[in-house]
Amino acid sequence: QPTLADLAQRHGRYFGSATDNPELTDEPYKAVLGSEFDMITPGNGMKWYATEPQQGVFDWSKGDEIVNLARANHQRVRGHTLVWHSQLPDWLTGRTWTAPELRAVLKKHIQTEVRHYRGKIYAWDVVNEAFNEDGTYRETVFYKTLGPGYIADALRWAHQADPKAKLYLNDYNIEGIGPKSDAYYKLAQELQAQGVPLDGIGLQAHLALQYGYPTTLEDNLRRFSRLRLDTALTEVDVRMFVPADEAKLATQAEWYRDMTEACLAVRRCVGITLWDYTDKYSWIPAFFEGEGAALPWDEQLAPKPAYFAIRDALS
Ligand code: G3I
Repeated sequence: QPTLADLAQRHGRYFGSATDNPELTDEPYKAVLGSEFDMITPGNGMKWYATEPQQGVFDWSKGDEIVNLARANHQRVRGHTLVWHSQLPDWLTGRTWTAPELRAVLKKHIQTEVRHYRGKIYAWDVVNEAFNEDGTYRETVFYKTLGPGYIADALRWAHQADPKAKLYLNDYNIEGIGPKSDAYYKLAQELQAQGVPLDGIGLQAHLALQYGYPTTLEDNLRRFSRLRLDTALTEVDVRMFVPADEAKLATQAEWYRDMTEACLAVRRCVGITLWDYTDKYSWIPAFFEGEGAALPWDEQLAPKPAYFAIRDALS
């Protein structure tokens, strides 16, 4: 029987999963990860705290483990993520920086990491979660110290270090049309007008049953396509209050189906990545009390209705 990756490839799309280093000792988990998907994202292993634990001292072990596994399985890799306000190393957050200092630190981090993985990364999430819900810039250390131009700089530096990698901006709650996705639409136009290298917008798609389905997803994907930008659903999950029941799992399956169909309907939506594929390793229960069951495979690695809905949409 064809895998999700096989089915997606028939549409010129990929179907991916995030993974994380500690899980890679779980052989049954690894078997599905290695066969069902054709794109892999390291959930933590390429973040700043992992890759530059001390200033100027780089550690590629976690990222390399995942890249090597993906390559052995003939899978491509999305690099995640170069610039983010979260999961920064203590040496960076523990002091104040002048603008020239932080600019140099940022440039060195981006260029050293992108150069290390040059030729091995399909797309980088260069800047992650740059906006607030109302579309104003998130007041991160980068924004406060360097101003909004840090985004253009980050994209330019990444492009210099690996001209073939696709460069993305990535965020959550931008699946539908609204102030936050409008901010990306406007920023993308500004960057393009300035000739800044930008290839795509990543829509994380961390959905929750209690907040409703983003019905303007397809229109939103389409407007970015019109700017000649790729889009991707980069961190998909659909959480619910647990315990799951048949009705909730059926609604969840519909949402996975609808997301898959929306991506297939828009030519420049290049693929879909689950934020891990099994409830066994989902980030949700640790972050949202009482919630979980967000992924298409359950904690025993058995496929749920959502899995069959995705297959259906891809078939
Ligand atoms: O590494 C430590 C370990 O030493 C310690 O024993 C353990 C005890 O809690 O924590 C470990 O760190 C955890 C880390 O994941 C690695 O497992 C952190 O506590 C935990 O907060 C961290 O969570 C990650 C989260 O980003 C942080 O915001 C999730 O795994 C990761 O899936 C999640 O991914 C993000 C994307 O990067 C961006 N979009 C949102 C998405 C969900 O938050």
